[in-house]
Amino acid sequence: MSTVLNVGIVGTGIFARDRHLPSYQEMPSEFKVVAAFNRTKSKALDFAKVAGVSEDKVYDDLDGILNDKDVSYVDALLPAQFNLATAQKAIAAGKPILMEKPIAATMEQARGLVKLSDSTDLPIGIAENWLYLSVIDIAKKHLARIGPIVGFTHNSTGPFVTQNKYLATTWRKTPEHIGGFLSDGGVHQLALVTDLVGNFDTVSAQTKQVRKESGTDDIVFSTVKIVDSDVIGTFTYGSAFGATDKSVYLKIYGLNGSVLIQLSDRKKPYVRVQVGGSAETAGKEEIYPVEAEDSFGVNEEFKSFHEAVSNKDKSLYKGSPRVAFHHLACVAAFLESSSKSGDNVKVERI
Ligand SMILES: NC(=O)c1ccc[n+]([C@@H]2O[C@H](COP(=O)([O-])OP(=O)(O)OC[C@H]3O[C@@H](n4cnc5c(N)ncnc54)[C@H](OP(=O)(O)O)[C@@H]3O)[C@@H](O)[C@H]2O)c1
Repeated sequence: MSTVLNVGIVGTGIFARDRHLPSYQEMPSEFKVVAAFNRTKSKALDFAKVAGVSEDKVYDDLDGILNDKDVSYVDALLPAQFNLATAQKAIAAGKPILMEKPIAATMEQARGLVKLSDSTDLPIGIAENWLYLSVIDIAKKHLARIGPIVGFTHNSTGPFVTQNKYLATTWRKTPEHIGGFLSDGGVHQLALVTDLVGNFDTVSAQTKQVRKESGTDDIVFSTVKIVDSDVIGTFTYGSAFGATDKSVYLKIYGLNGSVLIQLSDRKKPYVRVQVGGSAETAGKEEIYPVEAEDSFGVNEEFKSFHEAVSNKDKSLYKGSPRVAFHHLACVAAFLESSSKSGDNVKVERI
């Protein structure tokens, strides 16, 4: 039987209210939100009412929530530039910490988080949620059938949404995190792609800012080589375009077929497999529908963090700082490559 872990929320903004809290409430035998802290206290008090957290557990500062003996772990949903300092304090207070992506605002801070994680047995998790999409497990089952992987193409493009609730947050309009929306959103896709095809070794990229509201570059078109292999591919990302369909997919090509992970319609994701060494020998197209899941991986991710915390085994959680470091390093490499007119750039390793 699983134990109930008591969660302390740090940063009671949009995503805390609209996704983390509902996810915890959907899993009452595993989680209970028991405390909150937010820079603007009135927002934490409003959050506490919805969450059923008593007022005396709404703290005035980070130290307060970190020193609360009832809190099993802290779940921080802050602009990325606060992740390292928050994690340092949490670990010093003996608390595991789950933090929202991207891992950090800069590569230097990201290095600091990997170092911190290496120095402790306490779980430090970076919540990128796409690592926990069930399409990944389904796709992995079929990858062996398509022979050696030769290449891939990832596309995540969509129209600019003027009324996007996230766009209105000031820290996104003037981002301190490198790449703005490229790291804010793009690390999700990088998590999916790298989990399936491997880490990126080198990239050649062009990035640019299409919308002034984005604060910095918001689209990337790139070609990529995978570490320790001759697999090559493309990675395209951006939701800053004019009217167009939302098109989110990863197609992996093998010598003996292909696997398509289709996420364009979040309510109807599927994996399509075609096996055969040529057009003439192609087998029947196989479609594997994937059950749509409202939290888009967040619930599974929380369960996994629960395992890591309750078993005192940080390796049970997939989104370690080292894994998430790579995703931010890819964004940094895209930006560097683009600043050098698309030169081939090595992705930083740690
Ligand atoms: N996984 C996903 O799909 C997903 C989706 C959306 C967001 N997120 C992540 O969730 C986190 C929160 O994003 P959000 O969209 O919920 O944004 P938000 O509503 O603006 O929340 C940001 C929170 O950080 C606090 N904050 C901002 N600046 C601060 C500062 N200088 N010092 C201390 N606290 C500060 C805010 O406090 P105030 O109330 O005082 O402003 C607020 O509680 C981010 O890490 C974001 O990347 C993830």
